Amino acid sequence: MSTPLLHKAYDSRLFSEQGNDLIQQISHYLEQNTTGQNKKMNTWVDPQEEYAFWKTYTQENHPTPSFFETVLKRSIHIHHPHCIGHQVAPTVPVSALATLLSAQLNNGMAVYEMGQASSAIERVVIEFFTETIGWKNGDGFLTSGGTLANLTALLAARKAKASSDIWNDGHDRKLAILVSEEAHYCVDRSARIMGLGEAGIVKVPVGDNYKIRVDLLQHYYDQATKDGFEVIAVIGSAPSTSTGIYDDLEGVSAFAKANNLWFHIDGAHGGAAIFSQKYKYLLKGITKADSIIIDGHKMMGTSSITTAVLFKNTADSYATFSQKAQYLWEQNDDPDWYNYAKRTFECTKSMMSLRFYAILNAYGVAFFDDFVTTLYDSGHAFSETLKNHSDFEIALEAQSNIVCFRYTGGVPEAQIQEVNKAIRKTLLEDGEFYIVSTVLKGEMWLRTTFMNPFTTETHTQKLVEKIRTIAKKIV
Ligand SMILES: Cc1ncc(COP(=O)(O)O)c(C=O)c1O
Repeated sequence: MSTPLLHKAYDSRLFSEQGNDLIQQISHYLEQNTTGQNKKMNTWVDPQEEYAFWKTYTQENHPTPSFFETVLKRSIHIHHPHCIGHQVAPTVPVSALATLLSAQLNNGMAVYEMGQASSAIERVVIEFFTETIGWKNGDGFLTSGGTLANLTALLAARKAKASSDIWNDGHDRKLAILVSEEAHYCVDRSARIMGLGEAGIVKVPVGDNYKIRVDLLQHYYDQATKDGFEVIAVIGSAPSTSTGIYDDLEGVSAFAKANNLWFHIDGAHGGAAIFSQKYKYLLKGITKADSIIIDGHKMMGTSSITTAVLFKNTADSYATFSQKAQYLWEQNDDPDWYNYAKRTFECTKSMMSLRFYAILNAYGVAFFDDFVTTLYDSGHAFSETLKNHSDFEIALEAQSNIVCFRYTGGVPEAQIQEVNKAIRKTLLEDGEFYIVSTVLKGEMWLRTTFMNPFTTETHTQKLVEKIRTIAKKIV
């Protein structure tokens, strides 16, 4: 029997009051942050202290501000133009609204009848991707993030290329994949989950331009074969996470074709450049890929997390999992495009298609072009600016919205890394700017990713000045 407490928890009037209040707070957050009115975009708190706060938090001992407002205040503000660290999009508000609706409706999506609208919309969204790529017979689905998406695509690769049926019979030989040493760590993780082991992840070096050495692919392939591995796939990064540099996808695809390998592109970050008239050239060769993944929550402005797993051939998008689940569907052999659990890791899945569709519906495809183009332009502009400052150096010419650089002004060579580490730490704790760091060829670099279309050269100039001020105190 339902209790008064349960009635209260589902009370629609209470929801309306709290919901209206929350929307007002988020609107205020957007106004303060997108315009950069808030001086700080984060208030740094030590992890133990933050944990202690929430461990003892109750509405009674913290009557104001509300719980939601407290979370808002104690979270990093991705929408601030000074937030140029990691690759998470400042969510387009209409996409956040779609997520709210999805969260409340909670349509499970595993089978069509548990998510009619979202399942049909998912097909529309997938066609939007495959048609833009230029695949006539493409297909795919959405899943929970780039990591899971890469794993799903690589399982499809294994199904297509391994000479035995590993899904049903288990491993009977050593498999391998070829991937750039600069690829995102989740590719390595996926391969280990698939049982390839460390030796089955053949890391191909990058050149001075940080692209995979296409000229070395055959050598690494031959060596792996000689060592008893059956190589199933080669992976191109579009771009790699640390550098923002796109691999030569044409070159990688030619190699894949010559050796009958699956060609997968990790386009979690920059696959969305297909929508940019100015930057789509970076993805030349994409049509020859067997699979590609593209994150919505990176370069497409959707809320987290939603990733498109796309296949050149429809049949491959159904091949990864072949499992009986009679309680969900009657026909195991029927592809049923609308019963997505046949194709995704998830059984219950959020209505993630709404997050893309809401943007498309409101602003059209032009939004994605404007978004990617503006952000990549910002990366190029910052990279150019730094070249004009003799006390800074860039690691490489920016190709996207990721820029790696460091402060060098009068710092002895041996101390450059330590000084830049200290700069990054001071910036983090200060909270006015958020940038991150990376390691390239064994050396530490500061790293920025321009994710906010409202970040301008005025903001980056302020960052440069701030770094100088910090550095002068350190050196
Ligand atoms: C190239 C690349 N692949 C995969 C991922 C993982 O994606 P997700 O964070 O959506 O799991 C990232 C994340 O930064 C990435 O940059």
